[in-house]
Amino acid sequence: MPLMGRLLPLRFSFNFKAKSQPLLVRLLLWAILVVASGVVLYLSVAYLAIPLFILLSPTLHPTLYELGFYGGSPSQTYFSNGLSSPRISIRKSDPQCDKAYTFLNFNGASMVRKGPAILDPNNELVWKLEAEGTTTNLKLQTYKGEQYVTYWTGMKGGTMGRGIYHMLDASYDLKHTVSAVGLGGDLHEFLISRDDTALLTFYNVTPADLSSLGKTKNGWLIDSGFQEVDITTGELLFEWRASEHFQVNETFMTHPFGGYFKSIPFDFFHINSVDKDSKGNYLISSRHTHSVTCLSPDGQIVWILGGQRNQFEDLSGGEALNFRWQHDARWVDEEAGILTLFDNKEGGPLHVDGPYSRGVMLQLDVPNRTVTFLHEYASLHHTRTPSQGSTQYLPTSEHVFVGFGHSPVLSEFTLNGTLLCETHYGAPWLHPFDTAVSYRAFKAPNWVGIPREPPTAKIRDDVLYVSWNGATEVAAWVLQGASEQDEGFVDLDVVDKETFEETFELEQLSQYSWFRVAALDRNGQVLRSTEVIQRQSSSSWWSFLLAVFCWALLFRLAWMAYKWSSERGHASSKGVSWVVWRKS
Ligand SMILES: *[C@@H]1O[C@H](CO)[C@@H](O)[C@H](O)[C@H]1NC(C)=O
Ligand SMILES: *[C@@H]1O[C@H](CO)[C@@H](O)[C@H](O)[C@H]1NC(C)=O
Repeated sequence: MPLMGRLLPLRFSFNFKAKSQPLLVRLLLWAILVVASGVVLYLSVAYLAIPLFILLSPTLHPTLYELGFYGGSPSQTYFSNGLSSPRISIRKSDPQCDKAYTFLNFNGASMVRKGPAILDPNNELVWKLEAEGTTTNLKLQTYKGEQYVTYWTGMKGGTMGRGIYHMLDASYDLKHTVSAVGLGGDLHEFLISRDDTALLTFYNVTPADLSSLGKTKNGWLIDSGFQEVDITTGELLFEWRASEHFQVNETFMTHPFGGYFKSIPFDFFHINSVDKDSKGNYLISSRHTHSVTCLSPDGQIVWILGGQRNQFEDLSGGEALNFRWQHDARWVDEEAGILTLFDNKEGGPLHVDGPYSRGVMLQLDVPNRTVTFLHEYASLHHTRTPSQGSTQYLPTSEHVFVGFGHSPVLSEFTLNGTLLCETHYGAPWLHPFDTAVSYRAFKAPNWVGIPREPPTAKIRDDVLYVSWNGATEVAAWVLQGASEQDEGFVDLDVVDKETFEETFELEQLSQYSWFRVAALDRNGQVLRSTEVIQRQSSSSWWSFLLAVFCWALLFRLAWMAYKWSSERGHASSKGVSWVVWRKS
């Protein structure tokens, strides 16, 4: 072999065909090859192609987000406290939009960590709670003149839940819990009424005659209704059950198997909102009967809008009464008879009754039993959402804020329906797969959160990260450093608080080993400081050494594999060999 004499061969001899090699060894070699190519492919896509793509064309970033390249619900994690929140994508913005906080719940299958959350007017995280399991319906409410952050938490089964309601004060301390009396409190509604009572929904499986639906006489029904409960004493003040006032055949829901077994009860009514007016009447929305009903203080039906027993004449040619599978019926102006609701138009893939979901504003003339369509509020891309959703009238700006529920699109409109602002999270085409969800979303302008827990800071690679979960009053952060613990702290740097987590570079501050960060309010007063933390100077060295060790180990293993395979290659002369030549 004269050629071999001139070139020093580096022979990787993977003998895939050689009969002399046992099957197991050949399989193993193939497996190593497949895994290695996978790793190379992954590394080059994740660390080369995508970063290069983003670097070269920042405009592609939102498109990649929309297409789901970053997952069903891309999120960011905050180093200072370990919390995580979805990256919000802004579709449309307008300076006219309400400078208010958004209250919502990050739920859905691809949400890294679920939980109720508050966002600021720039869609930056203000507060998140991750310790509670399943939660819905985060809202700012007033009880006895004080503001409370309220939410439901419990076990969710299908489209209903059994749990309790929490009320947190301005320090995010749990001040009250409210339970349904004798039943599990459902996730759809928890409203503190103008009488300082709690209105809450319940879902309850009961035996029922379903023969009017062509089903069994001894069937099973999901009855639903609401309770009014005294928040302080927990006493039941009033209870209303749909099955006592509505026939099961008033439903528009169909389910071929529903109602025959206790484990598959039939959900004929599906209450999803309760409100109380100044006369003590209740306004309820029931999705599966396509109706909004007014009940007297003793629970008798005063009137029904929509559905089979509709009592109103539509003065808008059918436009006012064609809401389907709706949510969240609320009075905007009782005197004028104006209400809003969220018209889903869809109750699942088999129940589609319109091209898109929308908020709607209607005007009732109750004495004459007429209804007029005023405005609709549809998202930029005409999102249709099979469940959930909310429509909120914002009195100060006269805007309307709509949350599209199962498809987490949040939109703000002028009163007449012009879209001003819209954000969403998660890749929209994945929304049907339940990837990202917020049952409702609310805006509230005047929330002042001063958490009982102090702000938190952590240092990594000479960068200090600081945040204060729930604090609304921080205008700036001041970095303070000392060379001794608890001694002689001096101000070193200041940053305006613009995002949930802010950072300080510590590289130039090598004379300080101890740091803390003070939160300043708008007047420059210190609100609170983080605990004193020490710079871990050796940590990056340790990780460097660890990396060197790992690489050395890998190299050694590769060398052993090469030696072994080249020996096998020389032993058998046949077979495919990959030869890498190195000039001597
Ligand atoms: C619904 O069922 C009741 C009996 O429970 C019956 O009287 C009524 O006619 C039915 N309505 C419709 C629309 O079928
Ligand atoms: C509604 O009823 C009132 C009397 O209650 C009447 O004056 C008015 O004209 C009616 N409006 C319409 C549109 O019919």
